[in-house]
Amino acid sequence: MIRPAELIERKRNGEELSAGELADLILGYARGEVPDYQLAAFCMAVYFRGLNAAETYALTDAMIRSGRTLDLGAALGRKVVDKHSTGGVGDKTSLAVGPIVAACGVPVGKMSGRGLGHTGGTLDKLEAIPGFDVNLSTDRFIEQIRDVGLAIIGQSEDLVPADKQLYGLRDVTATVDIVPLIASSIMSKKIAGGADSVVLDVKVGDGAFMKTIDDARLLAETMLELGRRAGREVVCLLTDMDQPLGAAVGNALEIVEARDTVRGAGPADFTQLVLDACARMLAFSDLGIDAEEGRRRAEAAVADGSALAVYERWIEAQGGDPDPTALPRAPVIREVTARGSGTVGVLGAIRVGVAALHLGAGRRGKGDEIDHSVGVVCRAKRGAQVRAGDVLAEVHAGDEAAADEAVAAVLAAYELGEGGHREHPILLDVVGG
Ligand code: URA
Repeated sequence: MIRPAELIERKRNGEELSAGELADLILGYARGEVPDYQLAAFCMAVYFRGLNAAETYALTDAMIRSGRTLDLGAALGRKVVDKHSTGGVGDKTSLAVGPIVAACGVPVGKMSGRGLGHTGGTLDKLEAIPGFDVNLSTDRFIEQIRDVGLAIIGQSEDLVPADKQLYGLRDVTATVDIVPLIASSIMSKKIAGGADSVVLDVKVGDGAFMKTIDDARLLAETMLELGRRAGREVVCLLTDMDQPLGAAVGNALEIVEARDTVRGAGPADFTQLVLDACARMLAFSDLGIDAEEGRRRAEAAVADGSALAVYERWIEAQGGDPDPTALPRAPVIREVTARGSGTVGVLGAIRVGVAALHLGAGRRGKGDEIDHSVGVVCRAKRGAQVRAGDVLAEVHAGDEAAADEAVAAVLAAYELGEGGHREHPILLDVVGG
């Protein structure tokens, strides 16, 4: 029998733990034999001392072994390609990538999460759609991927249960933003979910867990190594999260924007990221094409309406109404206008994310109700030239008081400067592939 206090002490002192010790700790925690307070202390020791590659792999492996695994590839008779984002503000990428990739003939079955803090979650966005059911049984999940080409559901209770417990604990003990813990959390879910290949979108900047490109590269390389050890192909797109992705932040608003992007009418930065992710997923698929051809096919599926047709079939298959006019609308819509003239130099992702959270688009604590109708639409992004009185953003609020607070918060997210238009690429780097 291990003594958790001993392992915590050894990690605190910078020692390496064996695979067996880490497995005992994590599996003991998942079984309820090791209490939260000891795992919290362990995570904090990891925060200061880190984990080496062997320890990170052992941790990931133990997390996978805490529950059951899914062999989607065997069930579908196809190679399984998945994507995952490390989380950000306005990140509705899966909602657009899924239908486009499926329309290109590659099945997509995704298990997604809910938002925590200022970052949104795909499940919350989907639940903005009246009638949409995120809780399909595994059999129905697989059947729908076969019939429609696409299903997105919540992570089942028995898939990596250790991550579910650990993530909740990390969220309230300031131990989320740690490279080996993020890497093992994400990769354990992808491996247990049966992905043969994974396209990872590693967010970098103010609104992301990784604030600098160097930290993002380290996270990308750690996840790549975990994938390599588990025999999975991984590519990491390092993408900008200094400003919100696209224009919309908030659940129903993001559904509208994702649908617009699927039909070729989305914002430029979001469209670019979606097409890059589709290209990489298609290059990993069993179609036998490269990323360039993948991008061409993704663009064609958007242009000829086949991606929108898959989007509608998918939403209907999960009980939802795909008509955007069926989405909830906030009762108060206010414009945020520029106080002066200049170029938008800063549009702080975290400030906009927190403003949306305070409007009710996200949860402050586990189990909070969210308001799917509220949020922020950023009309002017970094590099835009604006004059006094121009609309910078729209606030969608539940009442006048919430709108007042959000208008001030969103205005504070904008900094205007001198100078002309500068390019702000969404794709900063690619690691692996
Ligand atoms: N997303 C995850 O799934 N886990 C983390 O630890 C961070 C982001």
